[in-house]
Amino acid sequence: MSRLKDKVCLITGAAKGQGAAEARLFAAQGARVWLTDVLDEEGAALAAQVDGIYRHLDVCDQVAWDSLVDEMVSAEGRVDVLINNAGIFRSNRLVDTPLEEFELVMQVNCTGVFLGMRSVGRAMQKAEAGSIVNISSLAGMASAPGAFAYGASKWAVRGMTKTAAIELARFGIRVNSIHPGAIDTEMLTQIPNGPERLIRGTPMRRAASADEVAKMALFLASEESSYSTGSEFLIDGGIHAV
Ligand SMILES: NC(=O)c1ccc[n+]([C@@H]2O[C@H](COP(=O)([O-])OP(=O)(O)OC[C@H]3O[C@@H](n4cnc5c(N)ncnc54)[C@H](O)[C@@H]3O)[C@@H](O)[C@H]2O)c1
Repeated sequence: MSRLKDKVCLITGAAKGQGAAEARLFAAQGARVWLTDVLDEEGAALAAQVDGIYRHLDVCDQVAWDSLVDEMVSAEGRVDVLINNAGIFRSNRLVDTPLEEFELVMQVNCTGVFLGMRSVGRAMQKAEAGSIVNISSLAGMASAPGAFAYGASKWAVRGMTKTAAIELARFGIRVNSIHPGAIDTEMLTQIPNGPERLIRGTPMRRAASADEVAKMALFLASEESSYSTGSEFLIDGGIHAV
């Protein structure tokens, strides 16, 4: 159980859902896990369970990003893995989307990923090694009718992943995106009228567990994916193939 032995891993949005599953799995695989979130009580409790470190990090806060990465480099010497997982969902059609909603979703889902890649990318560039995994969505591979801002933000994550991958490849840093379909977390319950229609349209006829996504993140975080960069990894029960 040492697929990430002694790897220093930073996970955003790690207090619950997919981020929490990644924190548990990475710790079980020997990683030194730094969990971050805005839900401090839940995040700190999970960190204690997995023998990790919890820090408050609003992914929209560039000063906080820089000071966290400085702290990690001082304490650990480097950051090996960044999982840009934190995200929010809002549902409105284009014509009903208030500017504030669009800006908020872009701030968390898109600016947050940019800031994380920038702060951690600078440290990884010095170390000439690293793996960055950005959690996009099926909504970053296809249209997202009824969730206009969310879809825009997740396409942006997919695009940023590719440019970052090309810019950072010569420093030994890999950058990939994961595109989950229906995943059984609190976010899935935020789909208006429930997730049933999405699940009915999924060939495998079920949602995935957060643990299933964590296994894909583990592969991309580890050396097992050593020749993959700038790539999209779908985990969607086949829905994108329809
Ligand atoms: N659940 C799904 O069906 C699904 C599908 C596709 C993509 N995703 C993506 O997967 C990722 C994880 O989502 P989840 O399903 O675990 O949802 P979740 O709502 O259970 O967890 C999201 C986490 O992000 C944190 N967060 C929100 N805003 C933050 C901020 N500003 N700074 C730091 N942390 C913040 C939350 O506190 C929470 O812990 C998200 O990027 C989401 O868009 C989810």
